[in-house]
Amino acid sequence: MRGVFISLEGAEGCGKSTQSALLADFLRVKGLEVVTTREPGGTPTGEMIRDILQHHASGEDIAPGAEVLLFAASRAQHVAHVIRPALERGDWVVCDRFVDSSLAYQGGARGLGIDTVLAANEIALDGVWPDVTFWLDLPLDAALGRVVARGAHPDRFESEETAFHQRVHDAYAALAVRFPERIVRLNAAAAPEAVFAELLEGLEPNLETEG
Ligand SMILES: Nc1ncnc2c1ncn2[C@@H]1O[C@H](COP(=O)(O)OP(=O)(O)OP(=O)(O)O)[C@@H](O)[C@H]1O
Ligand SMILES: [Mg+2]
Repeated sequence: MRGVFISLEGAEGCGKSTQSALLADFLRVKGLEVVTTREPGGTPTGEMIRDILQHHASGEDIAPGAEVLLFAASRAQHVAHVIRPALERGDWVVCDRFVDSSLAYQGGARGLGIDTVLAANEIALDGVWPDVTFWLDLPLDAALGRVVARGAHPDRFESEETAFHQRVHDAYAALAVRFPERIVRLNAAAAPEAVFAELLEGLEPNLETEG
């Protein structure tokens, strides 16, 4: 029997890691096997690719197409070695960022086009799509406030101009319209417990089939 694949999406600081931990705990208390993972990364090879993307030690600029394909390569490894095997075992998979991050950031915000980035990801996905994707929708000023509050380098966030973050947001909104059967929008500005309650509502159909 196939397990259930859930991805969490949204801007930096919207609460993906917080909700991922709450969800994994909730499912484990119900006695379900849960694999929590994240992108980019999630496998040793994927972590090496993440390192290239984040530090690009060569000092060379990474071309937009190379960036898309590196993310896709990391995802291909992640799907083949972690996600598909877990789903085939019947486990629940909770993934912090997945293909929609590529679609929103590279496709939408960086302007490569959602369809182009989707095409570049077909090999990586190999037919494995999340059953449910929660989009944690947080207004920009609240997102920045959280990044500053947790002591992360605000410059990492602010260095991308506000317009970039707005484009990320708009791209997620467009994806929610395009994939309404899969993407559930959550009001991420609410308190963590309230966000989680809304998340569980969205998950009800999948929890019911678990019995
Ligand atoms: N609903 C919430 N209300 C207020 N603060 C929150 C909420 N959810 C998370 N936070 C806080 O906001 C910060 C960012 O949360 P979290 O790390 O879960 O976000 P994230 O989406 O995983 O961020 P990143 O993209 O940087 O990994 C943390 O300090 C966290 O405690
Ligand atoms: Mg996180």
